Amino acid sequence: MARIFSGIQPTGIAHLGNYLGAIQNWVKLQETHECLFCLVDLHAITMAQDPAGLRDQTRVNAAILLACGIKPETLFHQSAVHAHARLAWIFNCVARFGWLNRMTQFKDKAGRDREAVSTGLFVYPNLMAADILAYHATQVPVGDDQRQHLELANDIAAKFNHDYGVDFFPRIEPYIPPATARIMSLRDASKKMSKSDPSDQSRIHLNDEPDSIAAKIRRAKTDPAPLPDHAEALAGRPEAANLVSIFAAITGRSSAQILTEYAGSGFGPFKEKLAEALIGTLAPIRERSAALLADPAHLDRTLQTSARRAAAIADPIVDEAERLVGFLPR
Ligand code: TYM
Repeated sequence: MARIFSGIQPTGIAHLGNYLGAIQNWVKLQETHECLFCLVDLHAITMAQDPAGLRDQTRVNAAILLACGIKPETLFHQSAVHAHARLAWIFNCVARFGWLNRMTQFKDKAGRDREAVSTGLFVYPNLMAADILAYHATQVPVGDDQRQHLELANDIAAKFNHDYGVDFFPRIEPYIPPATARIMSLRDASKKMSKSDPSDQSRIHLNDEPDSIAAKIRRAKTDPAPLPDHAEALAGRPEAANLVSIFAAITGRSSAQILTEYAGSGFGPFKEKLAEALIGTLAPIRERSAALLADPAHLDRTLQTSARRAAAIADPIVDEAERLVGFLPR
């Protein structure tokens, strides 16, 4: 059975893009695969974090993921499994500077001030490769923005295997269903929905109050034309296309089915029904996550127990990687 690994940064609050692009698929894949899902706190500190805020947000996002239906035994925090950092160091010495220099996400995050960002931000994709390969995971369900990092992980695995004359690390397959691979901002459909967008109106957090969800959808940018009767006619209408994709994904239907129902309608009634559908899915997530957060000690123990299970898988794999590199046994 293929082993699945994926991760989410525990900074900010998980949003609808995370849910439709990743979490929703994780919940489904748990039924058929062995899964490991990780709150990547080591990745989080590549950008400055307030320590108390990071602790709080790690718990809030853990509660949200569990409330979405992630099984408790599959969810843990990255820092609790040392194998990630051990393998990441080896990968820092396998990956080439030029490879990392081509990562578009680094360029975006570093912006103009490259000299001032942490060196951790630069080697971020090496840690991501380690996250996956420490478990010999082969399927990685993510949104489209992670595709380049997964290609790099395959380059790192191939170079390790080549340099040490082994066939040790497997190839990774991205799992990126196209319909939900890129959920866009509600304010500007040329940008993806993102935690780092300064506008709170650009995204729906998975623990937003129902009233706030309805208000964000009401204010979501659209165009004056009515909805068309087929998906191809959404070309050149990115805001409309985004809302139709969200509606389709949240109700488990196709964009074509949504358009058959709303062809010729204005955005007013469409948005009302979309908000209803979102609230129908997200309100129970909000309630369950609040209940889980009421007992943070229990939440911490849940993550710690899963981390021990994860370490039992990763430790022997990373021990072997260290042996292949030439380290003495630990
Ligand atoms: P992160 O925390 O930015 O996002 C978590 C997951 O949500 C997806 N996603 C989206 N999908 C569709 N539309 C959007 N607007 C959208 N925004 C986010 C992301 O693609 C991701 O799947 N580097 C990763 C975390 C990570 C990881 C890993 C993932 C660390 N190690 C190993 C897979 C395997 C990240 O920052 O995701």
